[in-house]
Amino acid sequence: MQITITKAENLKPKPEDANLGFGSIFTDHMFNMDYNPEKGWHNPRIEPYAAIEMDPATMMLHYAQGVFEGLKAYRTRSGSVQLFRPEKNVKRLNRSCRALCIPEVNETFLLNSLKQLVALEKDWVPSVPETSLYIRPTIIATDPFLGVRASNTYRLFIILSPVGAYYPEGFNPIKIWVTKDYVRAVRGGVGEAKTPGNYAASLRAGDEAHKNGYSQVLWLDGVELKYLEEVGSMNIFFVIDGEIITPSLTGSILPGITRDSVIALAKMWNMKITERKISIDELMGAHETGILNEVFGAGTAAVISPVGEIKYGKKTIIINNGKVGLVANKFYTALTDIQYGRAEDPMGWIVPVT
Ligand code: COI
Repeated sequence: MQITITKAENLKPKPEDANLGFGSIFTDHMFNMDYNPEKGWHNPRIEPYAAIEMDPATMMLHYAQGVFEGLKAYRTRSGSVQLFRPEKNVKRLNRSCRALCIPEVNETFLLNSLKQLVALEKDWVPSVPETSLYIRPTIIATDPFLGVRASNTYRLFIILSPVGAYYPEGFNPIKIWVTKDYVRAVRGGVGEAKTPGNYAASLRAGDEAHKNGYSQVLWLDGVELKYLEEVGSMNIFFVIDGEIITPSLTGSILPGITRDSVIALAKMWNMKITERKISIDELMGAHETGILNEVFGAGTAAVISPVGEIKYGKKTIIINNGKVGLVANKFYTALTDIQYGRAEDPMGWIVPVT
């Protein structure tokens, strides 16, 4: 399939790299492609970034049949642009498609389209340290129909956004809140898919966390309200008595690519790392006995995010004196050094764009 390219006539002014927040500025072009049962995925095109006109009955708007991804393009010191494990995002997009009854996309084609779009927008990749170009591939159900069934038609689009840190705290410890009042996902549901409904389901608890001075919710499992799962914008890691522990993927947790990379690096460094169920009681107990060394999150948007405080019921625990821990720092440095080309890429994770 040939990608048609239509260039924007007027280019937008670029933002100051130093003032970038997360996800509110978009580049000049986007990628679009359509699906119908007769033609399959067809009409791939790069065109000026523009609003999508929709029938008010569009199925995505009513039943949230959609999936998305998040990955980043990084500028290296020499000025080139590169991606980090993008084939993993494309694979996960297809896994999410299967969970939401959306027709899968040819992975090689999508990866090439994404690279072509980023190459065209290379001047939008910021160069201030720790900034990047966030890439958001998305698929939405487009049948105008109010009955509940899978749509017959879809739109795939990719938009790009120059970003700085996801959390206003940057690489500083955040405060998270554990609640028994709400759950994000249940086993057998769509918790492991990257689908809008999971994020919508997290908003009310997130709001309550914010009102209490916490930036995110650390979710408990939806069945027993006992086991720690993920934060919603990132996976979670605990360092207990020198061992790194992260919740195993039970079906309701997003299989994060940064999570996978942390595990791979820890194994390469011969650190003790375990994927297993870990309960909130075990975590609070570890803190009580003084063996909870560190907690940190890992995600594409959040990178590595140290956690300095956790609130659960009436208890509040301070982790590592509210400071960035050595283990979190080690992963943060190693990952960002690979992503920005400041270090060797021993795993073959980097895909050059320009
Ligand atoms: C990401 O890390 O890319 C995410 O999708 C998390 C969040 C911004 C939704």
